[in-house]
Amino acid sequence: MPAELAAPYGNGPAPAGTAAAAAAAAETSPAAAPDPTAGQEAGARKPVAKIRTHHLRQAKLNGERFAMLTAYDQYTAEIFDQAGIEVLLVGDSASNNVFGNETSLPVTVDELLPLCRAVTRSAKRALVVADLPFGSYEVSAQQAVATGVRFLKEGLAHAVKIEGGKFYAETVRAMVQAGIPVMAHIGFTPQSEHALGGYRVQGRGDDAQRLIEDAVALTDAGAFCVLMEMVPASTAAAVDAAVDVPTIGIGAGNATTGQVLVWQDMAGLRGGRMAKFVKQYADLRASLSDAAKAYGEDVRSGQFPGPEHSF
Ligand code: KIV
Repeated sequence: MPAELAAPYGNGPAPAGTAAAAAAAAETSPAAAPDPTAGQEAGARKPVAKIRTHHLRQAKLNGERFAMLTAYDQYTAEIFDQAGIEVLLVGDSASNNVFGNETSLPVTVDELLPLCRAVTRSAKRALVVADLPFGSYEVSAQQAVATGVRFLKEGLAHAVKIEGGKFYAETVRAMVQAGIPVMAHIGFTPQSEHALGGYRVQGRGDDAQRLIEDAVALTDAGAFCVLMEMVPASTAAAVDAAVDVPTIGIGAGNATTGQVLVWQDMAGLRGGRMAKFVKQYADLRASLSDAAKAYGEDVRSGQFPGPEHSF
């Protein structure tokens, strides 16, 4: 866990009598998986067992940051969770990163639900957020509530994310009233790729005000977090300043509380051109390709299996 997250998750004492202190006490468990406080002075609190939405809010209040990555399966969920990533997103980007589609539009609720279940079963600590796919919430607030319920009930998600601006405020309100924590996604919204005329930065110049109004309306309606995609850093900073809830950026500069990347971009599994906002931390595509080539050569040459692999 990055040092700057120590306090909101319980390593440092929250001021006595505050909601954060009460929440930290309620959420702290000796059963917490790998203890990053090991070796620290006696009396230091253990990290919370589970990240909740209020921990993200506390991070913003404390001026701290958290990390979010997409995850679509058991092993990535397990690895990212154990690496201390605070939020996992079962993104509709599974459409183009798992299912082989060109865009995020074709993926369905029934395709995403099993991926979501795999992630939530495997992550012990991270908050798991699921995307509501295109077509599963736009028709009405009732449709959004029904789909959100499926993701919490069948997908075991802890929260859901929907794309769109202030037009969706009443939808968010209905979902929150139904007990579904909602993350709002504004700025460039990939499900509207065709309506927006392609991958284009949103909120430039005077258009910044539109995003501020979107964020305010959605958080007034109860969204616990605002994610911004492909907006100028100055606009994202203005949106962040306009709302009390934490913000998350992807191609939105460095003023947001959290950052998110698609994991295959972050770890270099996906080939092709990367967006400007991607930083690659590994070259998994090359490693996996090398491993597959070596395996293929060993099989063809009779090197594998050796006696040590045989019964
Ligand atoms: O589905 C996804 O991966 C996303 C990110 C781009 C935030 O929504």
